[in-house]
Amino acid sequence: MARILIVEDDRNTLSGLVEILTQEGYEVDAAESGQQALKLLENDAFDILLTDLKMPSMTGMELYERSLPITPELKTIVMTAYSSVKDAVEAMKKGVYEYLTKPLDLDELFVILEKAIGEQNLQRENIQLKRQVHSVYSFENIVGKSAAMERIFSTIVKVAKTRSTVLIRGESGTGKELAARAIHYNSPRAARPLVEISCASFPETLLESELFGFEKGAFTGADRQKKGRFELAEEGTIFLDEIGDISEGVQVKLLRVLQERKISRLGGTETVDVNVRVIAATNRDLEKALDEGKFREDLYYRLNVIPIVMPSLRDRKDDISLLLDHFIRKFSIANKVPAPTISDEALRLCAEYSWPGNVRELENAVENAIVLGEGSEILVEHLPFGILKRHRGPAGLDFLKNSGPTFKDKIEVAERLLLGDAIEQAGGNKSEAAKKLDISLRTMRYKIKKYNL
Ligand SMILES: Nc1ncnc2c1ncn2[C@@H]1O[C@H](COP(=O)(O)OP(=O)(O)OP(=O)(O)O)[C@@H](O)[C@H]1O
Ligand SMILES: [Mg+2]
Repeated sequence: MARILIVEDDRNTLSGLVEILTQEGYEVDAAESGQQALKLLENDAFDILLTDLKMPSMTGMELYERSLPITPELKTIVMTAYSSVKDAVEAMKKGVYEYLTKPLDLDELFVILEKAIGEQNLQRENIQLKRQVHSVYSFENIVGKSAAMERIFSTIVKVAKTRSTVLIRGESGTGKELAARAIHYNSPRAARPLVEISCASFPETLLESELFGFEKGAFTGADRQKKGRFELAEEGTIFLDEIGDISEGVQVKLLRVLQERKISRLGGTETVDVNVRVIAATNRDLEKALDEGKFREDLYYRLNVIPIVMPSLRDRKDDISLLLDHFIRKFSIANKVPAPTISDEALRLCAEYSWPGNVRELENAVENAIVLGEGSEILVEHLPFGILKRHRGPAGLDFLKNSGPTFKDKIEVAERLLLGDAIEQAGGNKSEAAKKLDISLRTMRYKIKKYNL
């Protein structure tokens, strides 16, 4: 049974509507002002908001806009006098479901209510379905159903039980950090700290004191003893991110820790036993660094006990639509807007795109589309330029860019491409081609001559 909230400042109209809709079998609540309605919306779940547009203290439109963050799934129907139909049309552009003119035609009201409730049920079922799919295909916030990700999930579960050192490889944005967290939080060490450090963000000496700590007086400014991150991670896990970027000096010290499970603080003589699980990650080509002598081979073998390679997104394209759904839901919740759908064409472009920035790039694209698009559907024009640009292929943007010395030349190339394509599509029929391009036959003839098509 659908639940309707009626908001109307005219008491007679309000009580009349309540009576009629209750008789029809709806569950009905009433409010005489927007403020009162918002309170009800905050405390109860409604399916439909049926509100007058013109009300003294808060307009129906303002009420609609303020209801969105509270109940984005609510369907709003506004009622208005004939004289302000324009406002009602404006309201629909902003996302209101329907408008009714006063005096109300009851049959019309019932039809619209049923339609709104039907659509809402469908949407809810879809969301429900997606949630189920989602929980099946995600592990600790790592979304994926491809065979490659299935293997990652099972590796994570297996290695989590052990204390072995793990080296996570993979391009930028493939989820290395997520994987490191999943290992820790599924391990027997989960209740102990996970200490993360991004090795690339510290200069050499600072990185050393961060990792191993220092004694009082170790250097100017060391006015007290400080524990390093290895000690802070005692009985837990240390995540050494961007391990490929550490200096020779730190490499030597790290090797010692991994071999002896002992550290010594800077400026200290005493060694401290550490019981810490090490997970390292990098997007660097470590084998190349080995060849070039930039990374120690002995350290490499100590780190690479269990290698995990996060697949790049272009190697697991079947996950793209799942990830799109995941981030659409995430950002529509964060921005308090109803989750938009994605058009077939936009979905196709996303599916074909190579995503060099991997999941992070896709995540940013969805966030942008939701913020920019502000509509109920993500369309091609909301996608980042990178996707469109690359999609145009060899005859695309690069081709155009290099196609002539001046801007005018390039525009002409674009025209040629468009005209030639249209004529080809029309099987040589010029007037049909002109129609396709929405230009006059005269212009078409002129251009054909000009470009010698
Ligand atoms: N499989 C996934 N499912 C859901 N979100 C993911 C997935 N992979 C990555 N992400 C998201 O993408 C973003 C980048 O992920 P993460 O920071 O783990 O990548 P990374 O491999 O460590 O990248 P970098 O090498 O640039 O540090 C994060 O916001 C993360 O939540
Ligand atoms: Mg990272």
